[in-house]
Amino acid sequence: MNEIDWKNLSFGYMKTDYNVRMYYRNGKWGELEVCSEETIPMHMAATCLHYGQEAFEGLKAYRGKDGKIRIFRPEENAARLQNTCDGILMPKITTEQFVAAVKKVVKLNERFLPPYESGATLYIRPLLIGTSAQVGVHPASEYLFVIFVTPVGPYFKGGFSTNPYVIIRDYDRSAPLGTGIYKVGGNYAASLRANKMAHDLGYSCEFYLDAKEKKYMDECGAANFFGIKNNTYITPKSTSILPSVTNKSLMQLAEDLGMKVERRQIPEEELSTFEEAGACGTAAVISPISYIDDYDTKQRFVFSKDGKPGPLSTKLYNKLRAIQYGDEPDVHGWVTVLD
Ligand code: PLP
Ligand code: COI
Repeated sequence: MNEIDWKNLSFGYMKTDYNVRMYYRNGKWGELEVCSEETIPMHMAATCLHYGQEAFEGLKAYRGKDGKIRIFRPEENAARLQNTCDGILMPKITTEQFVAAVKKVVKLNERFLPPYESGATLYIRPLLIGTSAQVGVHPASEYLFVIFVTPVGPYFKGGFSTNPYVIIRDYDRSAPLGTGIYKVGGNYAASLRANKMAHDLGYSCEFYLDAKEKKYMDECGAANFFGIKNNTYITPKSTSILPSVTNKSLMQLAEDLGMKVERRQIPEEELSTFEEAGACGTAAVISPISYIDDYDTKQRFVFSKDGKPGPLSTKLYNKLRAIQYGDEPDVHGWVTVLD
């Protein structure tokens, strides 16, 4: 293997040694298989290709100072995948099966785990797709579950440094009672145009308001939103955003740090009252926000006057990273240490 330049990795795909796969046929899941092929042979009428019967997940493994490998809250991703399966009528994988598969694929690709303090991590991407042929709009009878891993660097520019975001009203990523709460590919297809527009305008990412009233903060294309004021961590409650494992963890850590936590609708104009704001997610970790522009009203909401992350976002970030890397005790039992 060529030397990997861990410090300069982008959030991209790199071939690793193995992936793991499991097939659903005749009404049941088979055994987990180890595979070194990167491709999936597929029927041209598979439901995932035509009708979007596709779910994915995203979680990470970290190498600690002690050399141990830690996987962050895989049970939460299992639970969210189960919820997504309910949402688009796919057969569920149990939490035990999911966690075992994650552990297996990480172990098999151990040599791709970035070193401690390289700034890179091992991204784990589970995927569940309908594979049997179907021309009418119905769920498939056969499915494939795959997990691959790839070492990654920061999702947003500079990692833990502030970036600008933009509210775009012209596109919705999901309907109020649609699939926004599920991790399905369609939501991301729906976000591509707004995402391109945001990038073309020089922003890190697009922000969505609630699709019905265009009044409340929802989330950005690949991460949840939080604002901080008066020692309070405030994050949107909405029927069209993805329940983020990172956000759930930050709510707990904020409480641990003596902050108040509110999960409620956030009217756009409240942005002007926040002292700090950030995007959060597995890929994004915490991506502090310098300012959010409203593309239509031309308003600018500024969260960092000196261009640096705020003190509470920094505390939360450090706390989360310390648990993920094993630098601090895992008091909430969030971490699975690989044996
Ligand atoms: N929101 C969206 C749309 C996402 O794609 C992600 C990434 O998974 C998140 C939020 C953050 O969720 P998590 O913290 O579970 O990665
Ligand atoms: C994640 O944070 O895991 C994501 O899935 C975000 C993005 C890469 C889609």
